[in-house]
Amino acid sequence: MAEFPAYLAVIGHPVAHSLSPAMHLAAYRSLEINACYTGYDVEPERLRDMVNAMRTLHFRGFNVTIPHKTAIMDLLDECTPEALRIGAVNTVYEKDNRLIGDNTDGLGYVASLTHELDVDVKGKRVLILGAGGAARGIADALCLAGIDTLWIVNRHLEKAVHLTEQLTIHHSAPIFALETGKWPDTGIDLLINTTPVGMHGHLSEELPIATDRLNDRMVVSDIVYRPKVTPLLAAAEQAGAKTHGGLGMLVEQGALAFEKWFGVMPPVSVMREAALQEMQKERSS
Ligand code: ATR
Repeated sequence: MAEFPAYLAVIGHPVAHSLSPAMHLAAYRSLEINACYTGYDVEPERLRDMVNAMRTLHFRGFNVTIPHKTAIMDLLDECTPEALRIGAVNTVYEKDNRLIGDNTDGLGYVASLTHELDVDVKGKRVLILGAGGAARGIADALCLAGIDTLWIVNRHLEKAVHLTEQLTIHHSAPIFALETGKWPDTGIDLLINTTPVGMHGHLSEELPIATDRLNDRMVVSDIVYRPKVTPLLAAAEQAGAKTHGGLGMLVEQGALAFEKWFGVMPPVSVMREAALQEMQKERSS
């Protein structure tokens, strides 16, 4: 009798440019896993129906992207402590007929920094630009990994203050909100942009700090991966800083999701290559 494949997917709105299908399918091919992974464009008002459909079809799991990462939490049976702390879900897996919401974004970010640059974030002074969902996941994972101090700079200061307060409930590292344009007096080891500034379509917008304080003792990281070298990363290279692009986080969060679904780590280099090829196709089409 033929064995049916495991069903997986990413749901978002829009989802057409997601690199996840290419990444995951490449991993299944490489490990000869019988599974399919596709993208579903789900309008917010259809999210509940979609989750029910996926339950009925016994999906092994799925990824969740913008704008559903928070709204989905109420539609699942349970969320992991990470997802609850972050207030967002990017990965859902099925366990004993229950749908569990998890979040691998922040851990994916830290894994990418470690694997690509061999950087251990323990003891580091970190400045994050932005105070949205991505910042929250990354900040949570950095605090868990034992950073020394965290500063958050955001266009709207009150959002940075709010995030600082929330993080302080769960973590003991000193965390401060800074006004736009301010750099910490003590200097920093790692700067991370989590805003869309620098992304295609947002190129003319301004980061919440000037880049004239970048230097060769810093690691500068941008979670934007279209384009591969953002204006921030270009300025960091000029200043002699080590740079870290956003594709690694995307690949590693996907690899950690894969591990939840199949119980083994996938070949991360295969997933990364597939994502790069997909981006190449976009550029030439
Ligand atoms: P994500 O889940 O990707 O983090 P988000 O929750 O919408 O998305 O958060 C986006 C972050 O980028 C926010 O911190 C936002 O700043 P505000 O809170 O002030 O809105 C920041 N951001 C978005 N566009 C920006 C811009 N043009 N300049 C500076 N910051 C920007």
